Amino acid sequence: MKYQIREMKIADIPAVIEGEKRIFKETLGYDMLYSELTLNPYAYYFVLDINHQVKGYIGLWIESERAEIVNFYVDKEYQNHGYGSMILEFAINLCKMSKVPNISLEVREHNLIAISLYEKYGFKVAYRREKYYKDLEDALVMIKELR
Ligand SMILES: CC(C)(COP(=O)(O)OP(=O)(O)OC[C@H]1O[C@@H](n2cnc3c(N)ncnc32)[C@H](O)[C@@H]1OP(=O)(O)O)[C@@H](O)C(=O)NCCC(=O)NCCS
Repeated sequence: MKYQIREMKIADIPAVIEGEKRIFKETLGYDMLYSELTLNPYAYYFVLDINHQVKGYIGLWIESERAEIVNFYVDKEYQNHGYGSMILEFAINLCKMSKVPNISLEVREHNLIAISLYEKYGFKVAYRREKYYKDLEDALVMIKELR
C-alpha cells in the first residue's frame, strides 16, 4: 500500500466532495473548493492519497498572525490507523514553519473522537460558540499555541 500527504489539485475536488458528503453529510461544494485552490492566497489544502485515491483531506488557512484548520477528515475505512494523527502533525509542522503564533479550529461539542485527537496534539478548548451548526449543536473553539 502506497500512501502520501500531497497538495490538493483541482482534479481532486470531485473526490473530496464525495468524501465530505460521506463523512459530514454536507460539502463545501465545488465552487468554494475551486476558489480556495485558485484564489485564496492563505489557503493550504492537502489530501491523503492512498494507492492513488483520495482517502482524506485537510484544509488550512495560514495568515501572518493566525492559522485555522477549516476542514479535516479521514475516510471511515481508513480511520483508526494513524492517518489522522499523521495529517494533523503535518499541518502543525507547516504552521510552525510559517511562524504563526497559534492554530485554531472549530469542532462539534459531541465529536469526542476528534476532540481527543486534538487534545493529544496540545489543542485546548478556548471557548464555545453556542448553536453554531445548522442542527444547533454547539461548536468548541480549540487553540494550540505554537510559541
Ligand atoms: C477525526 C479523524 C480525522 C481522526 O482520523 P483517524 O485517522 O481515525 O485518526 P488516528 O487513527 O490517527 O487517531 C485516532 C485518535 O482519535 C482518537 N480516538 C479514536 N477512537 C476514539 C474513541 N472511540 N474515543 C475517543 N477517542 C478516540 C484518539 O485520540 C486516537 O488516538 P490514539 O489512537 O493515539 O489514542 C477521523 O475520525 C474523522 O475523519 N472523523 C470524522 C470527521 C471529523 O470529525 N473531522 C474533524 C472535524 S473538526
